[in-house]
Amino acid sequence: MDVIPGAREVAGCRVCGATDWQEVLSLGLVPLANRFLDPASSHGDEPYFPLRVLSCRACRLMSLDHVVDPEILYRDYLYITPESETIRRHMRNVVDLFCERFGPEAGDLVVEMGSNIGGQLRLFAGKGMRVVGVDPARNLADVAEANGIPTVPEFFSVDTAAAVRDSHGAAKLLLGRHVFAHIDDLAGVLDGAERLLVPDGVFAVEVPYVLDMLATTAFDTIYHEHLSYFSVGTLSVLAERHRMRIVDVARSSVHGGSVLVFMARRGSKWRSTAAVERLRGLEHDFGLYGDRVYRRFAEDVMRVCEELPRIVRGIATEGGTVAGYGAPAKGNTILNVCGLGRDVVAFCSDTTPLKQGKLLPGTHVPVCSPQEARLRGPDHYLLLAWNYAEEILRKESGFLAGGGRFILPIPRPVLVDSAEEAVEALQSAVQL
Ligand code: TMP
Ligand code: ZN
Repeated sequence: MDVIPGAREVAGCRVCGATDWQEVLSLGLVPLANRFLDPASSHGDEPYFPLRVLSCRACRLMSLDHVVDPEILYRDYLYITPESETIRRHMRNVVDLFCERFGPEAGDLVVEMGSNIGGQLRLFAGKGMRVVGVDPARNLADVAEANGIPTVPEFFSVDTAAAVRDSHGAAKLLLGRHVFAHIDDLAGVLDGAERLLVPDGVFAVEVPYVLDMLATTAFDTIYHEHLSYFSVGTLSVLAERHRMRIVDVARSSVHGGSVLVFMARRGSKWRSTAAVERLRGLEHDFGLYGDRVYRRFAEDVMRVCEELPRIVRGIATEGGTVAGYGAPAKGNTILNVCGLGRDVVAFCSDTTPLKQGKLLPGTHVPVCSPQEARLRGPDHYLLLAWNYAEEILRKESGFLAGGGRFILPIPRPVLVDSAEEAVEALQSAVQL
């Protein structure tokens, strides 16, 4: 195996240490999903890395087989949690779920890793809790600080945990939303949680739920930042190896299907709810512990990768114009893996100012604002941000009324012309 600069090949499983891997899927050499390019600079040195997924036969962690250096990925980061009603509602739910289940008091400390610009913490602060963010993206930590959310511009580790505890005291809650899957040293994070939390403290992580990813063929969840694809069963193994246990779980449709998992020390006062066992049972019934379900996933992905370019190229051949709706990281997996470049995707519209005016990694499709997209008036949008389908299709009712159509890439590529149709197509694949 060649040594790839900036990346390391995985040997043992980061959850259980085993080395018996099932090879699930290879998506080829792919550029980094959030490495948007400046049109003025040279693109000759754009780094590509293998994007391959394995499944650990011992604990069934799905994992990439290469880990790209986090300093390359995260120090300057342009994913800003979007101003979206879907996300806002979800963040409020996270606060309510925690408060109802674990009854924190005003003045308790909540620490969030991967806190981005502080939107989630602001809601906890609104409930009277003290808050501290931890995020390695210095550009985002600066914005959070300016918004009044104290933020440590570091990766979360035992050292960061100790420093936060020294200056703010022990935490009632350590939260990591959509960050745990990005972390290679899970043991370091769990040790940090142990260091930081009060005896009955809670460590909550929200991750893309592997069951949803497999059921909806959401292979675009796979990009170099997502090192791990977790089930509740796999997270239980991890918790137990660190003298913790899962005490509650909550599924949601956010980011295409996620699960929020609450862990507490084994000796704490919290008991596991029936929901934990129920999800573990569902995972078992779905076949997560055998090889077959992963082989089927790979076949489903290959089918999407054949059908989607056929649809998009068909529209272009008939004189239609296709643009991308949203420029999410995951959209770059779809475009690069399906070979959809600027010859067929005219541009992508995205609400994030940091992305506008840039080119997408690999395909070099230009990104513009929604206002500019409206002026350019494509007749089809490839819905790369399909996890906001309902919100987006409602917002774009004018485009739809004028005969415009959205191409929903997964679970199977289809044309849709209403929010209801899109939601139904997505939900039809989800396992309840
Ligand atoms: P995410 O799924 O990782 O949150 O990324 C969604 C991307 O889509 C993000 O770059 C913002 C963009 N977006 C739009 O352009 N329009 C929208 O209406 C929404 C909800 C998101
Ligand atoms: Zn394992």
